[in-house]
Amino acid sequence: MILPRLLIPVESVPGETRVAATPETSKKFVEAGCNVFVQQGAGKLAGFADESYLNAGAKVVALDDLNLFDEIDSVLCVNAPETDLLSKLSPETLLVGLLSPYGNTALEKSLKTYKLSALSLELLPRISRAQSADALSSQANIAGYKGVLLAASALDRYFPMLMTAAGTVQPAKVVVLGAGVAGLQAIATAKRLGAVVYVSDIRPAVKEQVESLGARFINPPDINQSASESGGYARQSSEEFLAAQRQKLTKHLAEADVAICTAQVPGKKAPRLLSEEMLDQMRPGSVVLDLAVSQGGNCIGTKPGETIIRKGVNLIGASDLPCTVPNHASVLYSRNLFSLLHPLLSEGELRLDTSDELIDGSLISQNGIIRHQTIFNSGETN
Ligand code: NAI
Repeated sequence: MILPRLLIPVESVPGETRVAATPETSKKFVEAGCNVFVQQGAGKLAGFADESYLNAGAKVVALDDLNLFDEIDSVLCVNAPETDLLSKLSPETLLVGLLSPYGNTALEKSLKTYKLSALSLELLPRISRAQSADALSSQANIAGYKGVLLAASALDRYFPMLMTAAGTVQPAKVVVLGAGVAGLQAIATAKRLGAVVYVSDIRPAVKEQVESLGARFINPPDINQSASESGGYARQSSEEFLAAQRQKLTKHLAEADVAICTAQVPGKKAPRLLSEEMLDQMRPGSVVLDLAVSQGGNCIGTKPGETIIRKGVNLIGASDLPCTVPNHASVLYSRNLFSLLHPLLSEGELRLDTSDELIDGSLISQNGIIRHQTIFNSGETN
């Protein structure tokens, strides 16, 4: 039985600025019958003072009181907490967050050792009913938006076409690779700034969405490969297909001012779409912003959190962009968590019904028994 006593810890991953519950969602959880314990300072970097949690009906606590852990049934987090915290939790405590389970043997070991349950939001099936709980989408949206702003500010040109007394400047040409949630937001943001936008994706369904945003679609290479998508996601492409795709993209990138890289395949290494030869053809002053950098990168040479100038081309390894918009990222993320958990609350209990598609898909451990072993075994993105 999971009683609805929730802990919101300070996030431990370096650079993390988000928090898993805001005063708004704490209040909603309290109204739904939960006890909410917020670690002192948990919301500080996202702009939420301890006092605002107290006003919402939560308790603000220090974690040095070990008795507190007997009162905790569930931990709401952004990233998986450190082993030190996990080791203090009572068996059967439920973790809920973006737990990065792919190939994460350390997490697997902790879940087993401390007999914890865990809902990993990355694995939430993307069905209509789950949209309001879809944390990957809410955070990818932010990354797509902020990525374009960073690229625009690094670029040595305007984005819009401008007619000035000193003459006309042409709009920037932006190439967006991958038109999932982040890519579509990148397209919309670049269009709002006045750029001309070209887009590459391998899923046929995307063409119409791209064109409805006023961008131009670059058709994928005409090479027979097994279906390019499954369940709305891209499948991993063959090396032959990727080589043909790179060839097709070379011409566009040679003329581009900015490339925004968002192409990903869940649980796999990101496809390599920009090679050394392609970068050689980009003009000095242009910008490549790689949102897929943490999954190995779409562009050769990008590094997480670093900007590298390669022969005058700015290569920005844009990891963790949602952390640079911590207030809204937390507002949306915490609402995702509330949407997921609220329907599970009933008669003073938080019930995990594994016959529910959402729970079945995302519950990676139940009291220390691993339910999605293949995910922990997949070592490609960790
Ligand atoms: P993602 O982050 O896994 O991938 C980003 C994009 O990269 C995808 O559009 C994918 O097709 C593309 N890609 C993969 N390999 C590529 C290659 N070689 N070249 C070019 N592009 C490549 O995807 P994301 O953003 O998490 O979502 C993918 C799709 O899932 C969405 O577009 C949507 O159709 C669906 N979705 C459904 C939801 C729902 O119904 N609740 C919620 C969110 C997304």
